[in-house]
Amino acid sequence: MTDTAADPRTVAEAAALLRAGRLCAFPTETVYGLGADATNADAVLSIYETKGRPRFNPLIVHCADMQMASMLADFSPLALRLTALWPGSLTLVLPARKGNGLADVVMAGLDSVAIRIPDHKLALELIAAVGRPLAAPSANPSGRLSPTTAEQVRRGFAGKVPVLDGGPCRAGVESTIIQVEGDRLVQLRAGAVARREIERRLGVTVELAKKGGAVAAPGMLASHYAPNAQMRLNAEPLAGEAYLAFGDAPDFGGVMRNLSVTGDLHEAARNLFSMLHELDAAGVGVIAVAPVPEEGLGEAINDRLVRAAAPRE
Ligand code: TXA
Ligand code: MG
Repeated sequence: MTDTAADPRTVAEAAALLRAGRLCAFPTETVYGLGADATNADAVLSIYETKGRPRFNPLIVHCADMQMASMLADFSPLALRLTALWPGSLTLVLPARKGNGLADVVMAGLDSVAIRIPDHKLALELIAAVGRPLAAPSANPSGRLSPTTAEQVRRGFAGKVPVLDGGPCRAGVESTIIQVEGDRLVQLRAGAVARREIERRLGVTVELAKKGGAVAAPGMLASHYAPNAQMRLNAEPLAGEAYLAFGDAPDFGGVMRNLSVTGDLHEAARNLFSMLHELDAAGVGVIAVAPVPEEGLGEAINDRLVRAAAPRE
C-alpha cells in the first residue's frame, strides 16, 4: 500500500478500487465501514491486516438488496420477517448458504454469516456499482473508537486508506446484531435499533445473549472502542478530568461535551463516538462519564461505554 491514498471523489471511483481488490472506506448510516469485495479472499485479508484485527473475528457482509442477500444465506420465515427493517441498522446472523461465493475468511470459519442492507444512499449505490457484497467492519484500527466522519477514518489509519466521504453518520453507533436460531431471536450486540423497538414493530421477542457463556459475537471482547484516555463511568468529573455529560449539566469549567442536553438517546448515540474522539484529541488523561439511562438506545450506548472503560489488555 502507498503511504497516503487518494480519496475517491465519486461512487464510480470507489467501486473501481473495490472491484480491483483494494480497500475503500465508505459511509453507512451507523458508522464508516472499511470495505472490501467479500468474494475476494486477499481483499478481505487486507481488512484484517489494516485493522490489526484478530483472525477469529468475522465480518459483516453488506448487500444492496434482498436479491443479493438471499444468495448468501438461508432466510427462514422468521428471518424474512426481520428483513422488514431493511434497509436499516440491523445485522442478521443466519446459516450461510453452501457455495455462496464469499471468501471463507469473511465468516472466520463459522457456518453462519452476518448480513445487513445499510440505509445509506451512497453505501447502496456503491455496493450496486461493485455488483458484489462488501465485507466491512467499522473503519478503525482494531479496539479503537468507531469513526462517524471521513476525517476520523483518515486520522485512524494515518491517511493510508481511501475514504468515500458521505459526511457525518446519522446513527453514530453500530448496527444491532440479531442471530436467528430456529424460532429464537438472540441479540448478540445492542446497536442503533433498540431491541424493544424491534419487538414492538415486528411483534417478536428478542432474547439477550447469555452473559459469561461462550462469546456469541466473537468481536465482543471486553476491552473495545477504547479511547486513549481512561474512563470513569457514572461519575462526576474531578479536577483535571474531562467530562462527558448527559442531560442538563452545569458547565464545570473543564473540557466537557454533552451527549444530549435534552436527554435524547438518539442524539446521544449519534454523538457518542465523535465526542469521545474530541475529548481524546484534547489530550486528557481521564474522562468522567455521566450516567445514561439503560432504556431504548441507552442499552447500546452503555454497552460501548462499559467496553471503552474496561481494563486494557
Ligand atoms: O454498523 C455496523 O454494524 C458497522 C457498519 C460498517 O456496518 N459494522 C461493524 O462491523 O460494526 P464490526 O466488524 O466492527 O462488527 C461486526 C460484529 C463483530 O462483533 C463480529 O464478531 C460479529 O459482528 N459477527 C460477524 N459475523 C458473525 C457471525 N457469523 N456470528 C456471530 N457474530 C458475528
Ligand atoms: Mg468495530
